[in-house]
Amino acid sequence: VALPPPRILAFAGSLRKASLNRRLLRYAIDGARAAGGQVEELPPESLQLPLYNGDLEGNGSYPPDVETWRAKIREADGLLIASPEYNHGVSGVLKNAIDWASRPPSVFGGKVAASFGTTPGLFGTARSQMSLRLTLTPLGVWVVPKTVLVPNGAQAFDEAGHLTNPKLVDELAAVGRILVRALQAGLGRLEA
Ligand SMILES: Cc1cc2nc3c(=O)[nH]c(=O)nc-3n(C[C@H](O)[C@H](O)[C@H](O)COP(=O)(O)O)c2cc1C
Repeated sequence: VALPPPRILAFAGSLRKASLNRRLLRYAIDGARAAGGQVEELPPESLQLPLYNGDLEGNGSYPPDVETWRAKIREADGLLIASPEYNHGVSGVLKNAIDWASRPPSVFGGKVAASFGTTPGLFGTARSQMSLRLTLTPLGVWVVPKTVLVPNGAQAFDEAGHLTNPKLVDELAAVGRILVRALQAGLGRLEA
């Protein structure tokens, strides 16, 4: 029997309209779809959540926007994450969204994730990718080793918002493809 296509949720850890990181998502999404993944890209508002506050929790129930975010993660098999870098770590927006989704019952167990990002500087989010792995791994998320770091992000796109370097386009597509293959290989089901 053929397994259903892996369901993948794609999002960026930036709320701003002109986010450079969100512009990278489409290339990874294309790669995931070409490999047979079923991808949903979340609008930025999905991560516009209240700051985590234990007083907003009541017996495993959460504010409505948080419940919606948690349900999206729960229903997905894989996560494609464009992670900006703020002060050598992940953005507060992304960390806050992860914190909400980690609350009981955590919706992260057995997910497989791939992440990548861009900064205007030379390091292309290298440090935030490390930080994101340190956060996701203890939550039971399998993070694929492949990533793409896009330096000089303010110069990396043309006026229409397309990445100008075809090698980076291919690399981002490879991230999406590897995520789908990891899911098809059953990585997230190893502990089930
Ligand atoms: C509070 C703050 C901290 C930042 N820290 C870093 C940093 O540590 N390293 C870096 O390369 N860029 C840093 N930047 C620049 C971001 O990489 C840049 O604003 C980027 O465009 C944000 O991602 P976005 O375009 O997807 O919103 C920082 C930006 C802000 C606002």
